[in-house]
Amino acid sequence: MSDPIQAAAARSADIEDRISRDPGQFRVLTGDRPTGRLHVGHYFASLQNRVRLQRLGVPMMILIADYQVITDRDRPENLPEFATEMVADYLACGIDPEQATIFAHSAVPELNQLLLPFLSLVSVAELRRNPTVKEEIDAAGRSTVSGLMFTYPAHQAADILFCKANLVPVGRDQLPHLELTRTIARRFNERYAPIFPEPEALLSQAPLLLGTDGQKMSKSRGNSIALGATEDETAALIRKARTDAERTVTYDPATRPEVSNLVLLAAMCQDRDPHEVAAQIGSGGAAGLKQVVTEALNEHLAPVRERRRTLLEDPAYLRKILQRGNEQARELAVQTLDLVRNAMRMSY
Ligand code: TRP
Repeated sequence: MSDPIQAAAARSADIEDRISRDPGQFRVLTGDRPTGRLHVGHYFASLQNRVRLQRLGVPMMILIADYQVITDRDRPENLPEFATEMVADYLACGIDPEQATIFAHSAVPELNQLLLPFLSLVSVAELRRNPTVKEEIDAAGRSTVSGLMFTYPAHQAADILFCKANLVPVGRDQLPHLELTRTIARRFNERYAPIFPEPEALLSQAPLLLGTDGQKMSKSRGNSIALGATEDETAALIRKARTDAERTVTYDPATRPEVSNLVLLAAMCQDRDPHEVAAQIGSGGAAGLKQVVTEALNEHLAPVRERRRTLLEDPAYLRKILQRGNEQARELAVQTLDLVRNAMRMSY
C-alpha cells in the first residue's frame, strides 16, 4: 500500500516544478486559527513558504479562520486583537497586501453558505474517521465534542473552494482535510455541475520544529516562542527548554529529540546544516546550546520584529487591510455561490 505522506511529497515536487514554469495557473489558499499569536513554528513551516510562493508570483488568499477557534473552546478570546496581530505578523514576514488577500471567514457570509450543500455530500462515517479531528478531540480533553468539531473539515472545504483555490500549502496534519475537500469538489461536480477544482496539497518541506518541551509546538501548550516575543522573553523560554543529561551536543532527532530540536532551530535561523551547528557547540553542553539558539533566533527575527512593532503602532491600517481583504473575498464568494445556486437549481 502506498504511504499517503510519501505520495503527497512526490506530488509536491511535481507541483513545485509546475509553479516555477507557470505560477499564474495556481491560486493558493492558506490560513491559520486565531487562537493566539503566531509562533516560530508557523514562521518556519508556513509563513516563509507563503512569502516564497508570493515572490514566485502565485496569487494568494490568506484566511484568518476565526470560526474554527470555537471547535474546542466555549468562546473565542481576544479575537480582534489576535486578528490584528496576525495581519501584522503576515506583513512583517513579507506578505504584500497588494498581492495577497487577507480575510476572516466569518466576514464572508456566502462562503459559509457553501457549507450546507457540502455537508450533504459527505457521510457521518467519513466525518467521524478523520484522524486529525480525532487527535484534536483527544488533545482538547473535554467531556463533550461540539458538532462544529466534526464538521469543520467540511467548512474548511468551503474556505478553499469558495475562491476556487487549487493549491493549499499544508503540514501533514492537514492532509486528511484536503482529501475531504477534494472529495467534496468531485462529488459536487459530478452531482450538479463542474464548478470546482480539486485542490492539491503542497507539503511543507521544512523539517518539523517541536516546542520547547519536545512536544508538538502549539499555542495552547505554552511551549511555543511567539514571533512577537521580546528578546528577553525569547531567552527565558529557551532557558526553560527541556534538554537531556548528555553533555556533548549532537544532532540526533530519533534518540535526542529535545536537544536536536534546539539545534535545528539554530540551524534554521542560520541557514546551516544542523550537524555542523551541533559539532561546533560540542562539549559546550546545554548552556552553550541555549546561548547559541537564543542569539541565532533573536538575530534572525530582529528585522521581522522591528517591522511588526512599527505595524502595530497603526492598528487602523491593519484593520483596513483586513476589511479590504474581506470585501475582495466576498466578491469571489458571491460569484461562486451564484454558480452553485444555478447548478443546484436554486436561483429564483
Ligand atoms: N485548520 C487549519 C489549522 O488548524 C486552519 C484552516 C482553516 C485552514 N481553513 C483552512 C488551512 C483552509 C488551510 C486551508 O491550522
